[in-house]
Amino acid sequence: MNVTVRGHTRHYRTVTFDREKNHILLIEQRLLPHRFEIIATQDFRETAQAIRDMVVRGAGAIGATAAYGLAQGVRAFRGSDAGRFRGHVQTVYTTLKEARPTAVDPVNAMNEVRRAMSAGKTVAEKQVLALNAAEEFANEDVRHCEAIGRHGVKLIRNGMRILTHCNAGWLAFVDIGSATAPLYAAQARGKKFHVFCDETRPRSQGATLTAWELAQQGISHQIIADNAAGHLMQRREIDLVIVGSDRTLGRTGEVANKIGTYTKAVLAKRHDIPFYVGIPLSTIDWELKSGLAIPIEERDAGEVLGAWGAISNPQSAIRNPRTGRPAYVRVANPTSGARNPGFDVTPADLITGIITPAGIFKPQELWPQRRKLGFVERDMIVKNGARCRV
Ligand code: MRU
Repeated sequence: MNVTVRGHTRHYRTVTFDREKNHILLIEQRLLPHRFEIIATQDFRETAQAIRDMVVRGAGAIGATAAYGLAQGVRAFRGSDAGRFRGHVQTVYTTLKEARPTAVDPVNAMNEVRRAMSAGKTVAEKQVLALNAAEEFANEDVRHCEAIGRHGVKLIRNGMRILTHCNAGWLAFVDIGSATAPLYAAQARGKKFHVFCDETRPRSQGATLTAWELAQQGISHQIIADNAAGHLMQRREIDLVIVGSDRTLGRTGEVANKIGTYTKAVLAKRHDIPFYVGIPLSTIDWELKSGLAIPIEERDAGEVLGAWGAISNPQSAIRNPRTGRPAYVRVANPTSGARNPGFDVTPADLITGIITPAGIFKPQELWPQRRKLGFVERDMIVKNGARCRV
């Protein structure tokens, strides 16, 4: 999407690859909305660290970063010994996979890269194929988000008030976003609507990232406290909910997404408000049979006990809210601890529809419609290097 910084507008992708330097270029999302910076990771360990520390975050974006990270690691291998190379690839794969456990996109993305590499005979050939496959994953992510926009746009009518949670925007993908794709498509068609961004504690991706994206794009929006959605729904001030997903189970239609999504789905059901989820095909997990089996990331307690923002002298902050130094402040009682699950799982019966690049489906239709949703290409899963049938 286009980003305007200090009066200059330029198109950016969230994740790109510098072939010459073998670096991955990432928008430093922890600094947004206060500062816009691109950073480079120089090797696969730094790339895994960037995923872990949430320099880059969001299912599709970490999927593309992991795909590039695998290619980066593979390209850094020196020599031609096939056995050593296999061991190296496994180390890179595992390091990137373990960076964040809940989103399935990194695993699906790296499996695509490995599948492509298997067509190469030599280390050199595999190195070329790895980067081509990572580029293809990134490009496909963009195409999928565009298609989500084309299908989802029909859900948005003039005058609607739409709730979204966390950031499933272009920063969470390579471009465009999943939950935001229908919004951007509706804006392009001249529709007028208003978005409520859940603040999304503890890391506030709604207040910082989604709000920044929508502001950049000129879309009418307001940030609400996470606890405010029920009140607005009760007063008929929300007409539609669209969220993203970090892992959607193809067999059951359950959706893992940022913590607090389940609560919003329960509220939407109670108030008879349509609840949609936008996903590219790389977010579908065809393997797991129950949402209870989804690994839910437990993050550092410090995220709950404090908050990030930009510190400045209060007087200058009032005059110019854009100034300030990024900082973390402790909010909670100093002697208290915290529990911090990063995601929750929304059951299929609370979801009105899943907006995919292949159309909008009821969650229960994913499995019967699996051929349309990429299952054929994905029915062989690479598990720790070994190929096995699902
Ligand atoms: O912890 P994050 O920021 O990586 O979480 C991912 C998310 O932003 C959300 O869960 C999002 O709604 C789905 S990712 C497209």
